[in-house]
Amino acid sequence: MRVIVTGGAGFIGSALVRHLVLDKGYDVLTIDALTYAGCEASLRAVQDKANHRFVKADICDRAAMDVAIADFAPDRIMHLAAESHVDRSITGAADFIQTNIVGTFTLLEAARGYWSGLEADAKSAFRFLHVSTDEVYGSLGDEGLFEETTPYDPSSPYSASKAASDHLAKAWERTYGLPVVVSNCSNNYGPYHFPEKLIPLTILNAMEGRRLPVYGKGDNVRDWLFVDDHARALDIIIEKGRVGETYNVGGRNERQNIDVVRRICAVLDQLISGDTPRENLIEFVTDRPGHDARYAIDATKLETELGWRAHETFDTGIEKTVRWYLENQWWWQPLREKYDGRRLGLTAAKISGAPITGTPA
Ligand code: NAD
Ligand code: DAU
Repeated sequence: MRVIVTGGAGFIGSALVRHLVLDKGYDVLTIDALTYAGCEASLRAVQDKANHRFVKADICDRAAMDVAIADFAPDRIMHLAAESHVDRSITGAADFIQTNIVGTFTLLEAARGYWSGLEADAKSAFRFLHVSTDEVYGSLGDEGLFEETTPYDPSSPYSASKAASDHLAKAWERTYGLPVVVSNCSNNYGPYHFPEKLIPLTILNAMEGRRLPVYGKGDNVRDWLFVDDHARALDIIIEKGRVGETYNVGGRNERQNIDVVRRICAVLDQLISGDTPRENLIEFVTDRPGHDARYAIDATKLETELGWRAHETFDTGIEKTVRWYLENQWWWQPLREKYDGRRLGLTAAKISGAPITGTPA
């Protein structure tokens, strides 16, 4: 099995590459532009493996995509490359429009060019998995779950750009017959997570005695999935999923943000005792503009049709994650020096009077 993974130097992409190379023994080509979020160090476990190759390239570069795909001759393309951080998309959306929309279009066209030249058997076996997010569905109230049929209603520039890319992927299947499958997953957490997102930012700030910024009242709900569970789901979806279908991925682990932050503090307090409970570092700060209230995934289709189950609960996954950050400073220290956790994603109206967070308490 020959698999191209775009965005393979990112958080989820690198977990997927490790799974495919080390657990499955597939031949894998990682394509990644190494933006601020891409990190070759995340691929250290596979860098010397004969069944892994890396190409630094931008998915918006059609010529580079044509060459990489033709040279590698994949059976599958798993597309994860994206700008992924909601707050950054509020500060500036241009890169999100470029990579998530133009880049996905470019990759779909390159894949179509390659696929249309394949022999009949290879052509019908080929798959393109477009990896997306539950944020395309917008915000839930107190009740209900996102199903595959939930109408799209994105709130942020990030989720709007991912929604656009989902529509492109589906259209390339309906119009050109490219064998596309789409997955929409809830919030991931785990090792190698860039320290701009809630969980890694909270872990590192709490370790360093810095303030723990919680947006608004901390009552927004996210549905957390350990990243290795997502990686296995993606492999199962591309293997067994039906062409033209969407599969929602989620671990049934809904938590309010404030409870996530408190849990991380409690785990750290257990592992390294301090003078005061780390909860005291929590600081409620100006809310995110357009902040979705609640996400929650109904993963029944993936569970019953394709037989996937999450292995980690939130409590087991978060403890593994905190321990990993404690033991792997070599990985996060250089990233922390490039990005110090400063608040992103406030519009001009909200910046005035808003405290800058992440500074030493
Ligand atoms: P990430 O930001 O950690 O990694 C993105 C990777 O894409 C980086 O390695 C980056 O260098 C690369 N990249 C960015 N622009 C590129 C370009 N133009 N060409 C080539 N490579 C480029 O993101 P992540 O959290 O690993 O998310 C991966 C995918 O999964 C994204 O499509 C995201 O929308 C989706 N997703 C993420 C989550 C989550 O909780 N993180 C949940 C559901 C879906
Ligand atoms: O739902 C899937 C999405 O999950 C993915 O598509 C995105 O790529 C991924 O970044 C994530 O988006 P969120 O916006 O939910 O993740 P983030 O970690 O930025 O924020 C999680 C929640 O925590 C959200 O309600 C905002 C809040 N938050 C975030 C940060 C960074 C805080 O309260 N404080 C913070 O400092």
